[in-house]
Amino acid sequence: MTTGKRPPLPLAPRVLRCAMAAILLAASVFSADLRAADDEKNDDQTQKRLVWMRENQTGMWNISPREGLYLYDLVVRHHLKRGLEIGTSNGYSGIWIASGMRATGGHLLTLEIDEERAQLARENFQAAGVERYVTLERVDALQTLPKLTGPFDFVFIDAEKSDYVRYLQMVLPLVPNGGVIVAHNVSDMADELRDFIERVKTDPELKTTFAAPGPGGFSVSIKRGGR
Ligand SMILES: C[S@@+](CC[C@H](N)C(=O)[O-])C[C@H]1O[C@@H](n2cnc3c(N)ncnc32)[C@H](O)[C@@H]1O
Repeated sequence: MTTGKRPPLPLAPRVLRCAMAAILLAASVFSADLRAADDEKNDDQTQKRLVWMRENQTGMWNISPREGLYLYDLVVRHHLKRGLEIGTSNGYSGIWIASGMRATGGHLLTLEIDEERAQLARENFQAAGVERYVTLERVDALQTLPKLTGPFDFVFIDAEKSDYVRYLQMVLPLVPNGGVIVAHNVSDMADELRDFIERVKTDPELKTTFAAPGPGGFSVSIKRGGR
């Protein structure tokens, strides 16, 4: 008669199994530790470069550190993974966004028209340790945006203020419902951006709020679809 119970393993295989389980557990704890240590090291390297940039590369029209932290938080909190930035300059905001993408497993495409600033950005991405999470294209965004297929669940607009409405029109088809479009300088350049601000407030495809973590001010528009 069978009882359905398995006969106990002889001692040697039992010991072997326990040892294997212990080794696997230790390996997974160790690799999680390694990952955490790696992230910490990267974060340290990233923060050092951001501080260095503020001290050594002035006149680049960068967002402020608090604005950078706001963008990083936004990317991480909403698990955003496909980023597009219009207006890289020397890469200051790009580093904040790319480190958010590092945390979510995402990637940033950033567009800059000026070769000198694009070269600085390349060096800064490398020095900040985020080069794997960002692709820089030295292009005119107005020419390039119509050729992109997306989708992008995070867009940051920070180039010529007179082109913001055009940028918005071009990126809207590339952003899925629930995607976020952030634009800089809606506080300190509100006059130049009057048409853009009116558009993001009234477009039925967008639900827009405003945030002022720094002097520039952000519009934060969530695409909700359906006109
Ligand atoms: C305000 S700065 C960007 C600052 C950057 N986002 C930061 O906070 O570190 C604007 C940048 O947009 C670039 N730009 C202006 N028109 C552009 C265009 N049509 N295509 C791509 N970049 C453009 C300028 O060369 C300039 O470097």
